[in-house]
Amino acid sequence: MSGLRMIAITSGKGGVGKTHVAVSCAIEWAKLGKKVILVDADLGLCNADMLLGVKSKNTMKSVIDGKCSLDSALVEVDPGQWKFPGDSDQGQLFFLPGDIGSSDLTVLDPDHQKRFLETLQELSGHADMIVFDTSAGLGWPVIQFCQYAGEAVVVTNREPLAKRDATVMLKVLEMVSPSPQCWLVPNQVIDELEGRRLFNQLEKLCKDRLLWGGCVLQDKAVPEAVESSRPVVLHEPQSDASRSIRDLARYLLDHPPAGTEDDGALLDRVRQILHQ
Ligand SMILES: Nc1ncnc2c1ncn2[C@@H]1O[C@H](COP(=O)(O)OP(=O)(O)OP(=O)(O)O)[C@@H](O)[C@H]1O
Ligand SMILES: [Mg+2]
Repeated sequence: MSGLRMIAITSGKGGVGKTHVAVSCAIEWAKLGKKVILVDADLGLCNADMLLGVKSKNTMKSVIDGKCSLDSALVEVDPGQWKFPGDSDQGQLFFLPGDIGSSDLTVLDPDHQKRFLETLQELSGHADMIVFDTSAGLGWPVIQFCQYAGEAVVVTNREPLAKRDATVMLKVLEMVSPSPQCWLVPNQVIDELEGRRLFNQLEKLCKDRLLWGGCVLQDKAVPEAVESSRPVVLHEPQSDASRSIRDLARYLLDHPPAGTEDDGALLDRVRQILHQ
């Protein structure tokens, strides 16, 4: 068992905080000594690169298209940007621009599918955790990323539309086979009580077990951080939002869902999904 984890951060409705949760959790896991790769799998307005202050002209799609090597697309985020004194000196943080969410990977030709698998295999050799920041919406590629990952973090806020779309997403993820393990993360809540209430409300509508890992507090430090093109955990580490994201990241790290697979099983699952 290698302990590699792949986690897709998703939602139903857009703009509910996926990217902020994905970037901030990736940073926290790296600070805790993990080798983390954040894959921007958003086909719309991807802004994870902006929050991390990195640029790469090559993407995972260029790798799958055979136009460049994975090494030339993967960017290491300078530790000087995200490490604080006292953080583990083991951790590393990489970013991979995705540009792959727009295509249904199951309809790729065999060569591209093979390269996608090889790329995931190579990525898994580089990392302890691979985080996919997905697009909003219930598009098939988003569902597939959650299936590949095997673990999905569904982010929602208290807005009725966000809750409704998160519920639909959770139901779809329950129905597909293989079905990923699902965490539900309430964002922009006033306190943990509201987060728990929101979680319980949506949990009642799901047949499968929904995992609780914590919630993220509403905090003006987040839009302020976004304004400065920084994730809140770096911009204002002592803010309420940063504290709640740190707790969430630690909880997720310490609680791998039951039956976490080794790398081989993980890639077998991806192969199976591609060939369905
Ligand atoms: N905990 C929070 N407190 C206050 N504002 C927040 C919080 N989380 C997110 N926001 C606000 O929501 C905005 C959208 O966040 P983010 O870009 O992470 O959402 P997203 O789900 O990734 O969006 P998209 O669907 O477009 O990819 C942020 O710019 C910020 O202003
Ligand atoms: Mg986003």
